[in-house]
This record gives sequence, structure tokens and C-alpha cells, in this order.
Amino acid sequence: MKKIRIAIDGPAGAGKSSVSKLVASKLNYSYVDTGAIYRSLALAAAETDGECDSAELAEIINHFNVSFKMIDGINHVYLDGSDVTNEIRNERISMLASKIAKIPFVREALFRMQRELGEEGGVVMEGRDIGTVIMPDAELKIYLTATPEHRAKRRALELEAKGVSFSMEQLVSEIRDRDRQDMTRKVAPLRQAEDAVVVDNSDMNLEETAEKIVQLARERE
Ligand code: DC
Repeated sequence: MKKIRIAIDGPAGAGKSSVSKLVASKLNYSYVDTGAIYRSLALAAAETDGECDSAELAEIINHFNVSFKMIDGINHVYLDGSDVTNEIRNERISMLASKIAKIPFVREALFRMQRELGEEGGVVMEGRDIGTVIMPDAELKIYLTATPEHRAKRRALELEAKGVSFSMEQLVSEIRDRDRQDMTRKVAPLRQAEDAVVVDNSDMNLEETAEKIVQLARERE
């Protein structure tokens, strides 16, 4: 049986990370969260003066050393050997990651790193441009999506669990704004690859979504 490459792209809040991790675990494949690479670079940049001019970013990229290790179902992210798994998830780093992800030379530099991570096959890689730019020849491409309302509802559950207050309209509006920003940026915008299978999981749970993708993978192995 051949070990294939699976690209999973889609908008924020579609459940890409949970689904991708579960698919990788079911197939015994490796899992690559490319958003975590952008976030780690953002963290490295934030640790300087946070101004992020081009020369500074180029210097950071030259020494950029990020790695992953799955421990008990959690994808640990290491920057220069330090565990930054939680640190890269805050709002400031999300914003900075999104900002630097628009810069062409940053994408170019991270392109090679991501390509190499997918080279051997037996990988589930998730992001925004995996099926279109990073692994255009992946054997299986998934465009994972759900309605803004469903995505907002999931976010609401996460926030509720953390005891954070929110307004539902505000969440839907934020999701729509983020979609617009990701889909309209000049370099590598989020879009569905022509040969991607669209999986709308508005009415599917995590297990059902992962099973559907595993089935599609098995047909291609
Ligand atoms: O998936 P995420 O929210 O962790 O991604 C963080 C940021 O990185 C997000 O704003 C978009 C950017 N990103 C990207 O431009 N291309 C990718 N393949 C993955 C993430």
C-alpha cells in the first residue's frame, strides 16, 4: 500500500487541526500544522522589537529552527528547542502571523521547509495553500469548510468552556472578516484547488468528518 500525501485547506474554524490530527492518527501518518510554522516565526519576530521590518525578518528566517513532536495527541511545537505550543496560540501572535503571512519573501522561505516536510508521503498537511501551492501534486486534497454560523458556534463552545463572554453576532462577523482577509490577500490566498474534494462538515461531527477523509485516502493508497 502506498503512503499518500493529504492536503487539507479551508477557512478558520472549520476544524482543520482536529480533523487533520485524527486522520493522521487513523492512517498512522505524520501531521504537519503549517499555521504553527507561521505562528512560530511570528513569535520569534515578536521577541525582537516587534517592528518586523524586512531585514529583521530575513535575519530571523536565516536562523529559524522549528520542529514538532506529537505527545499524547498534542502536537508540541518547538522553537530553537523550547516548547512554544501554548505561547503561539494567543491573539497577538495570531494577528502577527496573519500579517507576516502576507509577505512574499516570507512565504517563499517557508515554502521550501513545508515542501520538504511533505516529500516522503504518509503525511497530512493542513493550512491555507497546501493543495494549491505547497503540495499541488498531493494524491488527496480536501477543502474543509462549514457555514460561518456553524464555525462561530464551535468557537462559542470553546469560549464558553473557558468562561469567556462573547456575542454570537460578533463571532459570526469576525469569522466573515477573517475569511475575507484570507481569501483576498495577493499572495497564495485561501482558495479551493480545482481537484479538491469539498467536505462541508456543518452537520458532521469530528469522527464522521475524519472517517470520510480516511475513506477517500484509502481509495487512493
Ligand atoms: O491555521 P492558523 O490559524 O494557525 O494559521 C495562522 C496564520 O498563518 C493564519 O493567519 C494564516 C497563516 N497561514 C498561511 O498563510 N498559510 C498557511 N498554509 C497556514 C497558515
